[in-house]
Parts: sequence; structure tokens; C-alpha cells
Amino acid sequence: GLPPRGWHYERVVAHRGGGIIAPENTLAGMRVAHAHGLRAVEFDVMLASDGVPILMHDPKLGRTLPGTGNIADISSSVLQTMDAGSWRDPHHYKGEPVPLFVDVVRWLRANDMWANIEIKPYPGKEIETGEVVGRMAAELYADETRPLALPVISSFSIDALAAAQRTAPGLPRGLLLNKVTPDWAELLERLDCIALHTSHANLTPEIAAQVKKAGYGLFCYTVNDPARAREILSWGVDSFCTDRIDLFARDFS
Ligand code: G3P
Ligand code: MG
Repeated sequence: GLPPRGWHYERVVAHRGGGIIAPENTLAGMRVAHAHGLRAVEFDVMLASDGVPILMHDPKLGRTLPGTGNIADISSSVLQTMDAGSWRDPHHYKGEPVPLFVDVVRWLRANDMWANIEIKPYPGKEIETGEVVGRMAAELYADETRPLALPVISSFSIDALAAAQRTAPGLPRGLLLNKVTPDWAELLERLDCIALHTSHANLTPEIAAQVKKAGYGLFCYTVNDPARAREILSWGVDSFCTDRIDLFARDFS
């Protein structure tokens, strides 16, 4: 069954797969996180023009992919031939492709890696993206018998998360809020979330205490300083993602 409210997973999560050590949202990045000893990754999922979910953060080319244009206008088969690695390091990662969501989940499961699947809809495609990612995630984890090996699905988009709730009711959810608004408890209740995911930069000890008192897991992005990580852990934060996968051991405390 579905894990109860709270955080039941890893403490240290590699942000966008490989943080800033390796190209984000690629299998190469996840291999680097694994090699550093981490066993949990957060990554961003968007739909290509053919409706196939791929790993991507930005809606446009130009930062992690060469050229110009919109992700929603490019098919998954073309995206898989594009170079998502050279922007980070052309010597090590030239030609590293944009991976399909399905291939990433299969690789993670084969390598005992836990996933925070962030639905990152192309603007205007919130409901479709939530539905598709939820449906595929439910299928890909259908044979998982260990509740704690299930991924957490998260999104900043309430519409996307609600859509994933419909197509993947058996997978845990976390709501992403950049700043914790007064309606946070109502939103988490409505979306039947197990956790709140929020920016550590806007978090206060008072808000952290309220979230924990309500029984929710508390996950923060993106913490790159070990001293800051210790501070927010002392406030009750359960888990965080980091770009500096080289600085945080899996058993960081
Ligand atoms: O899911 C936490 C974090 O990834 C949210 O920010 O922009 O890196 O997706 P972003
Ligand atoms: Mg993300």
C-alpha cells in the first residue's frame, strides 16, 4: 500500500540526477551520483511533442541543449539524438542524450536508486503531463512490493499533481511550494500528499515545526552547504536535494 504521511526515504537526494558535477537530467549524471554513494535522485519530467515523457528542466533549448526552440515542438526521438552533456563538460559528456523517462526509471530500479519524480510541465500542458507521467510511473512500479521503494511524485503545478493523483493514486505525492503559503495544509490535504517540498531559502524554524507537527515529511531544495544542511535538519527537515553530490555522503547527519 501507500506509505503514510511523513518521510520514509533517503536523506540526501541528488538534484536533477547529477547535481552540478555531471550534466543534469541525464543517465550519466545519475551514474555519477551512484558512484558517489548516493541512492536517491530528483529529476524533472516534461513531454516531448509526441507526448512521450523525457527528462528536461527548461522549456526551451539554449542552456542544456544547443540551439533555439521549444521542447514541446521537438519529438522524443529527435531529443534522444541531441547533446545534453557538452554544456557541462564536452570532454566527458559530449553526446550524452536526453533520456526517456521510461529508460531512467528502469535504470534506477535496476541500480537500487530511489526517485523523486518532479513533473515539470511545459507551460499549458500541466494536466496532460501529470496524467501521462502518473500513468507511466504507476505501470513502471506496478511490480514493486516494497512501499519504501516507491517514488515520490512532486510538482509545483497543482493541476499536474492532481492529474497524477487520478492516474497514479497508489504512488506517494509531495507538493512543491517555493514559499510556504498560508493554505499549505489545505493543499496537502486535498492532494493527499505525504510530504511538503520547499525551498530551504524561504523556510523558517516555525514553518518547519508546523509541517512536522501535522505529520508530513519535509523535503528541501537545493542545499549545497553542509552547515546549512545541518541547520535545517535541526529544524526537523527530513531530506534535501543537493547539487554538490561530492560534498554529502549518503549517511550525512
Ligand atoms: O524538486 C526540487 C527542485 O528540483 C525544484 O526546483 O527548478 O530545480 O526543478 P528545480
Ligand atoms: Mg526539479
